[in-house]
Amino acid sequence: MRVAVIGAGGMAASHFKAYQRIPMLEVIAVCDIDSNAASNAGKEMGCRAFTDMDAMLDICEPDAVDICLPSFLHFETVMKCLARNLHIFCEKPLAHTSTEAEQILKEADRRGRVIQVGQVLRFWPEYQYLKESISNEKYGRLCHLLMQRQFGTHEAGSWYMDPEKCRMACFEMHIHDTDFINSMFGLPDYVDSVGREVPGIHLSYISTRYLYAGAEAVMQAEAGWSDSSLEFAAGYRAVFEHGVLEYKEGVVKEYPANEGAREVDLQGSMGIPSDIVGVIRELKEFEAKAEGRNVISLVSAESAADTIWILEKEQESAEQGKKICCRRKSRDANERK
Ligand SMILES: NC(=O)c1ccc[n+]([C@@H]2O[C@H](COP(=O)([O-])OP(=O)(O)OC[C@H]3O[C@@H](n4cnc5c(N)ncnc54)[C@H](O)[C@@H]3O)[C@@H](O)[C@H]2O)c1
Repeated sequence: MRVAVIGAGGMAASHFKAYQRIPMLEVIAVCDIDSNAASNAGKEMGCRAFTDMDAMLDICEPDAVDICLPSFLHFETVMKCLARNLHIFCEKPLAHTSTEAEQILKEADRRGRVIQVGQVLRFWPEYQYLKESISNEKYGRLCHLLMQRQFGTHEAGSWYMDPEKCRMACFEMHIHDTDFINSMFGLPDYVDSVGREVPGIHLSYISTRYLYAGAEAVMQAEAGWSDSSLEFAAGYRAVFEHGVLEYKEGVVKEYPANEGAREVDLQGSMGIPSDIVGVIRELKEFEAKAEGRNVISLVSAESAADTIWILEKEQESAEQGKKICCRRKSRDANERK
């Protein structure tokens, strides 16, 4: 399948590493409004480089696009590419509002095009192991799950620093953990969040409890960034009836009851870092769907849109200081996972 990549910044660099390991996906062109970024990416991928998306799509006629643009450009770019009948891989978040996300789903459905969203955690070995450990009850039932990610400050002038262009830590970082919880348990009944946004000092924080009717386990996730040199970090701690599973500083460890701690050896990555493994797997899923092959899909467009819905409810909850109902009527429960 012939792919054109739109946006050649930080995340596209990870995608390029993944493409180099997926022979069935050929990157035929890249574009970036920054001509240096475009030309460097073109050299890296051995393909044509453009500074204008429409020119690239007119000339190169790809089968699919991979959108690695700043998040505020996702909705309009996805809609433009759908109008060209292209299959679409779009980095997270699919859109900045659930209304926009639903519009994308309708248009993709009408045109019979695939929308694959870069909710990459679902493909990370460390998070797949968490999901398995919860479902097979290796250490008994889950009692408490805490998922976390944090970062310091972004580059001055970057779109990440502009609250008009970026829905801050909630839509950029916390989205990963919210989405993972959505992938494991579906839409929560309620979310109960606290948060604070002070863009002027680059303070952005959200902490949420996900409430499921009848569930005993406490499910929480938090994320934030700050005006600091704090390095990016992400992890989780899952407390079960008879043990703990923890992912910290890039290592997954199990702490079974009455036994010593042990590191979990996650096979199958062949020394490739998890962030690239995740991208390889999600791009392969995209290719298989676009080529019409049957796959066990880990990320449906509907489920990624539900994640946007949950995030909106979390922000609403933080603003209003009360728990907010997350149930929605419009789609069938089977579509959600
Ligand atoms: N899945 C993940 O783990 C993950 C991690 C980081 C970022 N992301 C997502 O990837 C996307 C890109 O983030 P990033 O960190 O690479 O941002 P970035 O700022 O590093 O890169 C964006 C690139 O897009 C280019 N660009 C801007 N407007 C353009 C236009 N109109 N046409 C063509 N190019 C244009 C910029 O010049 C820049 O090179 C975001 O949506 C972000 O949320 C995902």
